Formats: sequence, structure tokens, C-alpha cells
Amino acid sequence: MKIRKAVFPVAGLGVRFIPATKFMPKEMLPIVDKPIVQYAVEEAFDAGIEEIIFVNSERKKGLEKHFKNDPELEKFLKDKGKHDLLKQVKEIVPKHGKIKFVIQDQPLGLGHAIWCAKDIVGNEPFAVILADDVIQNKVSALSQMVEQFNEFKSSIIAAMEVEKNQTNKYGILDFKDKGTDIFKIKGMVEKPSPDKAPSNFAVVGRYILTPEIFDFLEKKKIGAGGEIQLTDAIAELLDIQSVYGYKFKGTRFDCGDKAGYQMANLAFTMERPELKDKMLKFIKKIIDQ
Ligand code: G1P
Repeated sequence: MKIRKAVFPVAGLGVRFIPATKFMPKEMLPIVDKPIVQYAVEEAFDAGIEEIIFVNSERKKGLEKHFKNDPELEKFLKDKGKHDLLKQVKEIVPKHGKIKFVIQDQPLGLGHAIWCAKDIVGNEPFAVILADDVIQNKVSALSQMVEQFNEFKSSIIAAMEVEKNQTNKYGILDFKDKGTDIFKIKGMVEKPSPDKAPSNFAVVGRYILTPEIFDFLEKKKIGAGGEIQLTDAIAELLDIQSVYGYKFKGTRFDCGDKAGYQMANLAFTMERPELKDKMLKFIKKIIDQ
């Protein structure tokens, strides 16, 4: 029961980043010099994923180009002797068959996006990565979850604590006893108002799901925001299987949010020795002003 496949729903319009995303897919926004989606792809391969399934829309075909060879650019870099850059550009392109694309033809919600990958996933457990949620940690969040899956052999949802007044932005977990980093879930609600939230433990964009989830996604039940929600399907999955919440190690940045995206840029800049000092000097200067 190895986790071999990861689904990346990337069809969203990214309206929160207009005008930047009028033409450019939001997943292509860079953190320092690497697109958000590439961090997620690297995380997946690092966790042992063998095949990535992008659920994309016709409008966002530009994203696919990033993962394909660019002979003109490669020739240019080669002729100029820019071997390091050439190596980087070539490394972005996964081996043949490692990335697949399916089209979500209507924006019906996250649950619908995952359902679109059903035929390629088949009858095996798989991962879901929401690339907007960037998680910084030495051992990646998905690797941590794969390790937990190997022990528990059940669906696992990444979770973190949020301020009580933020519950309406997330899927929220209900659980009996949260004694450890991994805990059994009792229920799940999508974006409840703070007074209706069963806890302040929020779902973060990393999931490992058993294929039975497709039976519930298949029902295409309309949920919060008039969309087909993955959260609702997982809540139904709970009736037939155990599902665990996992409090991952690492710092999560909400890169679908302007402030979160800038924070990610700052945090990842600080990890780069060639940029860190320059940035620190600048931060001190603006703080002292
Ligand atoms: C989605 C999920 C939500 C989860 C969130 C994490 O919501 O529906 O349950 O908490 O991602 O980022 P979205 O942010 O796409 O509205």
C-alpha cells in the first residue's frame, strides 16, 4: 500500500491575486525565484510519489509548459555556458509519464476537482496537495504523513490550530481526544462560523486518502459555498473507516492570501545565504524608520 500518486487541484482562478493572476496561474507566482507549484512538486517527489496528477482548467495551460522541455531556452543557456541554470531548467522536467493532466471543465469545488482524477488514481490510496499551502520544514509535511500512513494504513488529514475567529476559512475537525500529534477524527465541517465550529483544528492542504473517498465524491453533494466539498466526502468516509488528523511539523504559509504569500517570500529568502544579510539590513532599516 505505497502512496504512489498525488493529485494537485490547480484549476482555481486565483481571483485574490488579480491583477497578477489575470493571465498567470496563481501557482506560478514565485517564492523567491521558484513558482509555488514547484515547491509542491518537489515535496511530492521527495515523499516518494511516482506520479503527479494535475487537475487543471483550459485557461491555465501555461502551468503545464513549466514542466515541459524548452529546447530554445536550453540551447541559449548551453551556448552562453550557463551550465548551472541549464541543469536547473532540465531538472524541472520530470521523466516521461510522471506528470499527467486532467481537465476540470467546471469550477464546481475541491471535491469535484479530486473526483476528476478518479480514473487515473484507480483503486489505491493517494495524496492530495493544495499547492497554495506552502509548508516549510526540513522533513516535508507530505513525507511526515506518508510515514504516519505506513503505520496507520488509514486516511490522514494535515491539521493545525487556528484562532477561533478564523474557523470560517477552513475545514474544521471534530475529535474525541487529541493527546498526540496523530488523533482519530470524529467529524469534519467546511468553513463553520466560530460559534458552530467543533474545534479550532483546521485542515491544511495535505491529505492522504483511501480510494473509497471516490464513492462519496461521486454523489456530488453540494456543500458550503454552493460547491462540492472534499470535507463533506471525508465526513461521510468516517462512517465506514477511521480517519486521522495529523499535527504536522513545520510552518505553513497561506499563499492564497496576500499577507501569507509575502511572509512565505520573507521566510524562504532568509533560508538563502546569498540573500539573508541584505534582507536583514533592509528590514532593520524600515523598522527603525
Ligand atoms: C480548502 C479546503 C479546506 C481547507 C483549506 C486549506 O479550502 O476546502 O477544508 O481547510 O483548503 O487551505 P480553500 O482554501 O480552497 O477555500
